[in-house]
Amino acid sequence: MNTVVRQSPCKVNLLLNILRKREDGYHELETIMQPVPFSDRLTVGRASSGIQLTCNLATLPVDGTNLVHKAAVAFLQVAGITEGVQIHLEKNIPLAAGLGGGSGNAAHTLCALNEVFDLPLNTAKLQALAASLGSDVPFFLQSQPALATGRGEQVQQLAPFPALQGAYMLLIHPGFGISTAWAYQSLARYPEALNGRPGRAEELLQLLRGNDLAAAGRAFYNSLEAPALPKHPLLALYQEFLRLNGASAVLMSGSGSTTFALTNGRAAADRLLERFQSKFGTSAWTAVTAL
Ligand code: C5P
Repeated sequence: MNTVVRQSPCKVNLLLNILRKREDGYHELETIMQPVPFSDRLTVGRASSGIQLTCNLATLPVDGTNLVHKAAVAFLQVAGITEGVQIHLEKNIPLAAGLGGGSGNAAHTLCALNEVFDLPLNTAKLQALAASLGSDVPFFLQSQPALATGRGEQVQQLAPFPALQGAYMLLIHPGFGISTAWAYQSLARYPEALNGRPGRAEELLQLLRGNDLAAAGRAFYNSLEAPALPKHPLLALYQEFLRLNGASAVLMSGSGSTTFALTNGRAAADRLLERFQSKFGTSAWTAVTAL
């Protein structure tokens, strides 16, 4: 296999329930992750030496700080490959958005390289590599909804949720990002959010297995809204407006700054976007997608 092209989709967290801070500095959590079919694109092939990474987005560094670059270095090392690789990343997903764009890119780089080099790594090795690159990376080795625990790296694949059948999603990125490390560190000032009540995931999963989107939506929860919404009041305004204008569910994804809203059907999502833009203007990045 010479060159592999892969879509690298994003996710939202329907629930991100932080349970406590751990000794190693990470946070123990339970999260329900939903794949969203809005994607970056990776083109991966062999090269004679080194890691040649290019990207359509001039603002994204393509050096050793880029998660795709890190994934490639780690892969070649663990697989014992001395050849080089060339990778082109076409970025569509906004950065520092809570949509897992970078994590997905890392996971899909690992899978694409494994294909390009004729499968030197088994699933267990890929999973360990993915977890070493970031808490959200293992989720993207598969394409189903999932319950993730631990620091987010322990992924239990789930069947598609009946309550989301026929649902559409409006994604809104305000134009500024939120640092994941900042969001987690700021939880220290919000003890209730830091020490969440365990069991929220099981409760929401029950509702997602039913067929009432609005009922499930009322149980969506994100501990990281506690620090993020007071710091960025615009996000709280977005949420209030989306709820008042017919969204069945509204939440910040991950550590933000993306807000997502769910509707029954495409027409309602398009109408919601139109109303949103007539209220807040068109400067925010937006996307409407089926689930
Ligand atoms: O694992 P990842 O590199 O994506 O995490 C980024 C940052 O988010 C970590 O440095 C840590 O500050 C925070 N984090 C956390 N608990 C988690 C996941 C991430 O504290 N479960």
